[in-house]
Amino acid sequence: MIISGSVSQSLASRLATELDRPLAVVEYDRFPDGELYVKIDDAVSEEVVIVGSTITSDAHIELLQLQDAAREAGAEKITTVIPYMGYGRQDKAFKSGESVSARAMANAISVETDQVFVVTPHEKATCEFFTPTAVSVDGAKQLAEPLPDDLLDPVILAPDAGATDLAEAVRNEYGTGTVKSFDKIRHSGNEVEISGDEINVDGRDIVIVDDIIATGTTMSEAIETLQTDGARNVFVTCVHPLLAQNARLKLSKAGATEIYATDTIEQPESAVSVAPVLAEKLA
Ligand code: R5P
Repeated sequence: MIISGSVSQSLASRLATELDRPLAVVEYDRFPDGELYVKIDDAVSEEVVIVGSTITSDAHIELLQLQDAAREAGAEKITTVIPYMGYGRQDKAFKSGESVSARAMANAISVETDQVFVVTPHEKATCEFFTPTAVSVDGAKQLAEPLPDDLLDPVILAPDAGATDLAEAVRNEYGTGTVKSFDKIRHSGNEVEISGDEINVDGRDIVIVDDIIATGTTMSEAIETLQTDGARNVFVTCVHPLLAQNARLKLSKAGATEIYATDTIEQPESAVSVAPVLAEKLA
């Protein structure tokens, strides 16, 4: 049985179809003081898969509630699928006194689960914070699917070295293209510096691949550099379309041709689903 968090209903439904498993109906509500309430309306089976992106603190609490409700209702094996793991980027104490938020979240989620899958975690090492260790699922290769078939001499570009694996996954799935990466220095949440002068992009189609678009600062800086260097089209792709604040405006103004993302976070840009890759792992 597939049990969905309120923010992952489309993905959970697709996963239920892929796996040919029943989809539970869940009620999501709030108490008068604002606290969350969940109720699984169907009889819970012995083995359940709970699917919930922890994109907000509420979504995180809701995931814990669903695990608890499933266990209470008699589930013996609980698999937790985290399509997008919020708080995953604070995976170290960068300054003394900071929390390792990814670990705090993983600890809480580990209590009532027997196995965990995380789609494209910001750092694979985050998986080790879970008990048992979570399995990382690559969502990036799905991003090749919505790309036009006739890209011109494409460059598949990582906006920083950390995204090179994702760019390679897209290139391998697409079947052609040169993988390159920019260098990125982040000065603050809204300020990054991008460089990569040696990449020839003149007249070529570019596909930028990243794990997350949050404020859109990284992508818009990369697009501007590419436009200056004569790129033809710039397709912006990411696994997790957080698209916070005015990210869409920044990407559009910078000259993005299209934005393609997966449904780990359900947005209008979610052109492709990670359900097939999850189903492969879960089957
Ligand atoms: C950072 O290392 C990540 O891979 C993304 O590049 C980053 O989270 C994107 O954030 P933003 O859209 O705010 O630049």
